[in-house]
Amino acid sequence: MSVTLVAEAPAVQLTTEEFMSGVFEVQHPLIACHLTRLRDKTTPPAEFRQLVNRLASLLAYEATKDLRIEKVSVQTPLTKTDGSQLAQRIGLIPILRAGLGMIDPVLELIPTAEVWHLGLYRDEETAQPIKYYSKLPPERPVDVALILDPMLATGGSAVDALTTLRDWGVPHVKLLSLIAAEEGVKRVECEFPNSQIYVCQIDPDLNDRKFIVPGLGDAGDRIFNTIGH
Ligand code: PRP
Repeated sequence: MSVTLVAEAPAVQLTTEEFMSGVFEVQHPLIACHLTRLRDKTTPPAEFRQLVNRLASLLAYEATKDLRIEKVSVQTPLTKTDGSQLAQRIGLIPILRAGLGMIDPVLELIPTAEVWHLGLYRDEETAQPIKYYSKLPPERPVDVALILDPMLATGGSAVDALTTLRDWGVPHVKLLSLIAAEEGVKRVECEFPNSQIYVCQIDPDLNDRKFIVPGLGDAGDRIFNTIGH
């Protein structure tokens, strides 16, 4: 595609409220149906991965509605006309392992995004997050970071990731989770009131092992077919 940036044009806002903080439980019939299959304990790993992919796309569509764009001029086969391009650097921050399942669909929507992996796992005894991988550069933070993690349970992992991104200097952070527990959502809201949380559904409970109830089990194990190992 041949595009020319119209330098003097101001950045275009897609919505009136830029980067509102808040929790968005996205209501959509396709999300409701795919999430039901995702919860089903008989759904095999191959279908589970497809469902994660579809839900991540739908969630990302919603979560990117307020990205800033700028006007460009584009030459079609017939004439010149006005067009748009993203005006911000976007970073995808998948939380290993389960967040890996959400990268491809979001990258498909934002092919110019940078991907910065964070490795976190929850200690089985304490449910506290343990960080084991982070290679964020010391400078030049992205303008908008989308944290990708299918599950937000106690909120410990999300708070750790948000802290890392704040320390990097990212001004706008959005957390995309397929499912969340009320407790975790409240914790993130409380500790990072300026962040946005996009989720397909918020479940009411955590069990004594800090699993989301009714939930969908362990997303990482179901994506990678490692249940019981
Ligand atoms: C899961 C999930 C989140 C975290 C949520 O990862 O993918 O990262 O737990 O729990 P929290 O909100 O209580 O922190 P897990 O520790 O199972 O690692 P895995 O993806 O490698 O399986």
